[in-house]
Amino acid sequence: MIDFECTPQVDLEFMNREHRKAFEDTNALKRLLDSALALRLESDLESETADDFGVELGNEIEHEVEIKSSLPGSEEIEQLMQTLLLDTVRHFELEEQCMEEHSFPARAEHRLEHRRVLQWMEEEHSRWSRDCSIETINHLSLYAADKFPQWLLNHIVTMDTVMASYVHRHGGNSL
Ligand SMILES: [Fe+2]
Ligand SMILES: [Fe+2]
Repeated sequence: MIDFECTPQVDLEFMNREHRKAFEDTNALKRLLDSALALRLESDLESETADDFGVELGNEIEHEVEIKSSLPGSEEIEQLMQTLLLDTVRHFELEEQCMEEHSFPARAEHRLEHRRVLQWMEEEHSRWSRDCSIETINHLSLYAADKFPQWLLNHIVTMDTVMASYVHRHGGNSL
């Protein structure tokens, strides 16, 4: 997990606010996924014990749906992933609007990178819609705690820093 307070700031305050929100969303998501993993491991252990006694648990898909609907925190994870997605859409839209208004030269390249990352986020989100297996929880945990924050940090210190500096120097306000 990455703490916003430990990341470099850019020259436009609205961007720093969006970045803070993104790190907070992913850190909260990681915490929920950790709790879900602990509960899921516990639930699997109980299922194995039930199997040992010959209890019929239905087919695998029904079992998965049953676990997901009964997994505490499952709904919160869905909501938080939705929040992260909507916040990211807004974050990118604000930057793109700003780049357009100030005719930032590398705006097409920057916009393309935003599109790529949004598509990646939507793919990760859709994993949770499919199942809440231990593998999925671990995968999303890595995404929320490491892969996405690392991408964001790298994006902040490269493309966002250059863009904010350019806009700031060309009359953009820092609000
Ligand atoms: Fe940004
Ligand atoms: Fe950006």
